[in-house]
Amino acid sequence: VIRHARVVTPAPGTAGARRGREIGRLQVLDNATVLCAGGRIDRVEPGGAVPAAAVEIDARGRVLLPAFVDCHTHACWAGDRLDEWEMKRKGASYLDILRAGGGIMSTVRAVRAASREALAHDLRSRLDVMLNEGTTTVEVKSGYGLTTDDELKMVRAIRDAAATWPGTVVPTALLGHAIDPAAGSAAAFVDRVIEETLPAVSAEFPGIAVDAFCENGAWSLADCARLFERARAAGHPIRVHADQFTALGMLEEAVRLGAVSVDHLEASTPQGLVTLAASAAVGVLLPCCGFHLDGRYAGARPLVDGGGAVALATNLNPGSAPCSSIPMAVALAVRHCGLSASEAITAATANAAAVLGMPDRGIIAPGARADLVLLRHRDERLLAYEFGGDPVDAVVCGGRVTRPDRAG
Ligand code: NIG
Repeated sequence: VIRHARVVTPAPGTAGARRGREIGRLQVLDNATVLCAGGRIDRVEPGGAVPAAAVEIDARGRVLLPAFVDCHTHACWAGDRLDEWEMKRKGASYLDILRAGGGIMSTVRAVRAASREALAHDLRSRLDVMLNEGTTTVEVKSGYGLTTDDELKMVRAIRDAAATWPGTVVPTALLGHAIDPAAGSAAAFVDRVIEETLPAVSAEFPGIAVDAFCENGAWSLADCARLFERARAAGHPIRVHADQFTALGMLEEAVRLGAVSVDHLEASTPQGLVTLAASAAVGVLLPCCGFHLDGRYAGARPLVDGGGAVALATNLNPGSAPCSSIPMAVALAVRHCGLSASEAITAATANAAAVLGMPDRGIIAPGARADLVLLRHRDERLLAYEFGGDPVDAVVCGGRVTRPDRAG
């Protein structure tokens, strides 16, 4: 039971992602009680009686939000990219380093050299950090294996790490992340992914989302389209990294293919964002990238004002976004992507849950999973206003207190 809380939640009752103006409309209930039972929220009511045997947190007016949903991460990796980061500080660009065989490929080499157990162990440590930061549902992509065996090793490691974590992990098969030079040619590699890796992943992980990075030096528009047509025919939801550095037409193609989400959007054209706004796909903002790499951010206003759906994620990875904090992503999205604090809260909760096809979270309502985060603040706008600190006082995950009230 959480008593005397300022309960702040995206309004329940919407099927799928909140769109347009609805994104900024939060439901607020002051001095409320939230009762959880069996891992779910049982009741949300003003005042409210407390069952005698309840574990109780007294919020004393602090803000209670649905726990954060991080719908885009590459949290499973090995090695580090610190030397490359120093090169970037001296002026090398992300794509220069990728073209020279570093970047994603240097993490590919480290992941191939790592055991499934080591990958799962390191991922599990990162998940624990995220849980403490208020994130209870995390999408984790493969994409640093590139061979069939190494991609399968990654997805298995993600599943292994998830098995003992109190929160929820959603794996994604990022089959089109880079081009493996060892395959001989880009065409040979793409053929292998489509003819061998995709069927192997389909057989072991039916229905897993399939993702690709459409960019110069990574996967071309035509190759992404081929992969996605085959993935869609095999029953996989499609997600895509589009317009991160270059608008290659992938956003429009993703809309045509019925992608669940189009992620990044830093280089999208205004017309592209209008097209996305009119589609069923969710635009996923990843502002930690701009903060870490080059100061470029997606502009979310055309998307939201055009009636579209927007979600927000950390993009945690060793290359473009070494950050697991949704509060930091919120602070950046409000400063640089044009979201209001209310919109950013919906984007990192209910709308991120919609990207993952999980309508039972990202809201505070009877029947929803009891995943909750108690902030230090009494005004939710402070989540966006402050940055770089730790605004989380307590975390409840599946009805259990995983981070006891710091001020309790
Ligand atoms: O979303 N751009 C492609 N993928 C990641 C970066 C992965 C990496 O650099 O290791 C991203 O930014």
